[in-house]
Amino acid sequence: MNQAESERARAAELSAGSLIAVLLEQHASIRDLFALVKDAEDGRRRQWFDELRHLLAVHEAGEQAVLRPVTCETAGAAVAEARVQEEAAAGEAIAALEKLPVDSSEFAEAFAEFEHAVSDHAEHEEYQEFPALLSERSPQVLEELGRMLVAGQETASARQQSGHDGLRDGSPFSELLAHAREVFDEYWPSPLQDGTDPALTGATCDLGE
Ligand SMILES: [Fe+2]
Ligand SMILES: [Fe+2]
Repeated sequence: MNQAESERARAAELSAGSLIAVLLEQHASIRDLFALVKDAEDGRRRQWFDELRHLLAVHEAGEQAVLRPVTCETAGAAVAEARVQEEAAAGEAIAALEKLPVDSSEFAEAFAEFEHAVSDHAEHEEYQEFPALLSERSPQVLEELGRMLVAGQETASARQQSGHDGLRDGSPFSELLAHAREVFDEYWPSPLQDGTDPALTGATCDLGE
């Protein structure tokens, strides 16, 4: 069983729509896209790379908005902050890749390094963050978090694809990520908002942002 298959198998053991199931499925899709970019022989490498950039933008924005505040309260602030740092490094790696012709050997070399880093990052999330949420949050809370993640990601993707927020297929990753974060800022209730369930917001944990 390869890593994507293992992630899909673990997702299938959880209730459909649970935050952790949704993120495991996305990790598997990200691995699939890495393989498609690497193996593209039909002139579609640019297209697969663009799909990967779009998925990573909504995936990381969603994790930062929905997962991290709860990680901070369950696995701890140090774990949450370490993952945010890895995501910042990934953003820099993508920015460097975006400057290279996708069919060049330089791209292939940098892309292989990037895949390794993203794979390590996904494993850190799966083994340092997800178990803490699964043991310390109810299935109902995880399903509600999953709904919020998907709602924000779908809205961000739809707006990016429609181009109505000024984005297009070739927009840099930094702009895609910033846009997806803005969408989540609209969706995600302030931790200070009256009546918001602290289990959903990580209201008592300071991520230092
Ligand atoms: Fe992540
Ligand atoms: Fe992730």
